[in-house]
Amino acid sequence: MIYLDNSATTYPKPLKVRQAVSAAMQMSANPGRSGHDLALKSSEQIFLARKADAKFFNFSKEENVIFTLNCTMAVNMVLKGILKSGDHVVVSSLEHNAVMRPLEKLTQKGVSYTVAEVFPCDNDKTVNSFRNAINAKTKLIMCTHASNVWGIKLPIERISALAHEYGILFAVDAAQSAGIVPIDLNDSNIDFLCIAGHKGLYGPMGTGILIISGNTIPDTIIEGGTGTNSISFRQPDELPERFESGTPNYSGIIGLHAGFDFVNSNKISNISKHEFTLIKHLYQELKKIPKVKLYLPEPDEKYFVPILSFNIDGMDSENVSAILNKKGIAVRAGLQCSPLAHKMMGTLETGAVRISPSVFTKLTDINYLVSVIKKI
Ligand code: ALA
Repeated sequence: MIYLDNSATTYPKPLKVRQAVSAAMQMSANPGRSGHDLALKSSEQIFLARKADAKFFNFSKEENVIFTLNCTMAVNMVLKGILKSGDHVVVSSLEHNAVMRPLEKLTQKGVSYTVAEVFPCDNDKTVNSFRNAINAKTKLIMCTHASNVWGIKLPIERISALAHEYGILFAVDAAQSAGIVPIDLNDSNIDFLCIAGHKGLYGPMGTGILIISGNTIPDTIIEGGTGTNSISFRQPDELPERFESGTPNYSGIIGLHAGFDFVNSNKISNISKHEFTLIKHLYQELKKIPKVKLYLPEPDEKYFVPILSFNIDGMDSENVSAILNKKGIAVRAGLQCSPLAHKMMGTLETGAVRISPSVFTKLTDINYLVSVIKKI
């Protein structure tokens, strides 16, 4: 199979990730609970993973690195832990349902939101549209770092500066960027970074991270046992325990640690360069096919992450994806859980066929894809 659905989850996982998960499953006990050697060893491994994960984002407070089930859970923890009745939020016109659904739910509790339009390849206009969306009740700006449909990258440094200027909290959904675009939390105005562990970081599915990088600590949305101060029914305030009730996904966290190591040893810049070479080549080849509709300029590192979505005239994207599947090519079509992003591009009806490579994708894979699309 030629796997080009790495924005959904990277496949294959690197050998060192699979080995780390397997080793963790063979030798582990519940970390942070019991006092026997195996449990203590597991706690130590989690500590080392947390420290390495923090370092990857140039962040010094490893206790503020919270392990979650996925990026969606991290986003929910921010939105539901921060927003109260009367608060207003600004989001972008490229948000995934991971942001839109919890936000919509929060409107039942008196929270309101405004969608700021994103202008592809025009960061001045995009930042201006965020500025215009702010009002006196705006408590939080939350935006995706990169669209999971169109690959459009948002100027998060500029949006975070804007949030800072107005004294507004800033949260970033880095599901599609972590591991592909460097993110430096040192000296940044990002208050919350929500991360998927199983995409560009090559960890197992069921892993995510919330980094609380500002001074505002959200309320909890889940409480329970932490293995600390067990005499009290009150949820502890200390991090990371406050946000990590219940037994963690130990093998997932250890596998993700190996994923971070994998990205570090391959270097983000090399991974990104490789994927952009493939996506640019694909763009040039698709441009030559009259019935293929491309929606944006050729993706470059300044304005995009390496994701490309397209359609074939007169065909529904799901049908194209089904044909590709029969030819041994795995892609994702439809709305990719991001109706807002499709509304922006006028593709709500057809969806789009999305191609997302990884470090393991080869030029021959892309050429085979092009040859099949030509036949369709
Ligand atoms: N959010 C993931 C995607 O874009 C699952 O496919």
